Amino acid sequence: MKSLVLCCGLISALLLSSTAQVEGQSGQSPSHQGTDCTQIHSRNPAAPSGVYVIKPVGVKNTFQVYCEMQTDGGWTVLQRRSGRDVSFHRNWTEYKDGFGDLMQNHWLGLSKVFSMTQKKTWTLRVDLYTHDGRTLYALYKNFRVGDETSGFKLHVGEYDGNAGDALQDQNGYGFSTSDRDNDGCSPCIFGDIAWYKCVGSKEGWWYSQCGSASLNGDWHASGDHIGWSSGLYWRTDKFPKLYSVKGSKMMIKSCLKNFVAKHFIRGHTVV
Ligand SMILES: *[C@@H]1O[C@H](CO)[C@@H](O)[C@H](O)[C@H]1NC(C)=O
Repeated sequence: MKSLVLCCGLISALLLSSTAQVEGQSGQSPSHQGTDCTQIHSRNPAAPSGVYVIKPVGVKNTFQVYCEMQTDGGWTVLQRRSGRDVSFHRNWTEYKDGFGDLMQNHWLGLSKVFSMTQKKTWTLRVDLYTHDGRTLYALYKNFRVGDETSGFKLHVGEYDGNAGDALQDQNGYGFSTSDRDNDGCSPCIFGDIAWYKCVGSKEGWWYSQCGSASLNGDWHASGDHIGWSSGLYWRTDKFPKLYSVKGSKMMIKSCLKNFVAKHFIRGHTVV
């Protein structure tokens, strides 16, 4: 955690001092506000949280994202759940393209996440809101997803946080929806039941025979949140059994290690 913060802090400082030079070289169109929320925040630390138009490095099209601007940097939100006003019962195409309301419940879309995480180095932060008002979090270094041919395969590195590590056992698995099966069950045997699909209702997730996390399942209100095998779950020892969280947020921040190494450390006296 400490080294992570240090890394991103150092890089933000470097970026601030050199943004103008980079922009001059690339001749970006004025229709977008940055490559991602981390860059927007490092250029303007006073920029408020909200919807921004971004154009990731090496990507043709611009798209909108919600930026969570925090003191530790700008985070691009990938997923947010806080109620059932937006259905997460969606097919492959919808999970690929994204859906919902960026200001509220939404899924940004796997092809956008792929396009962002192709370049740079990213940290994933998962915030989990409990029914008794706490927020637990999990941080993963080196987050990225593969391209569509790989099933948007999940890659997560080292864990840190206080929510427990539920995502590590899904590392390396593709995404599954009701119409696309990458969960590795052929079948999976739980007790004396054979499961062919981990997708329980019509949600999508990086199921791994089936694994410990799923945050796109059916949302359950307080008081009715225990006992569901679907739900929004993060099965670690930090949560009661069959507990569906009250809300979740998944967001990523770029660390730009490679970018900095390539553009600044070589030929400059950084260290
Ligand atoms: C996915 O869902 C959308 C919206 O309901 C629908 O228009 C589309 O045809 C579906 N795609 C497939 C492949 O079923």
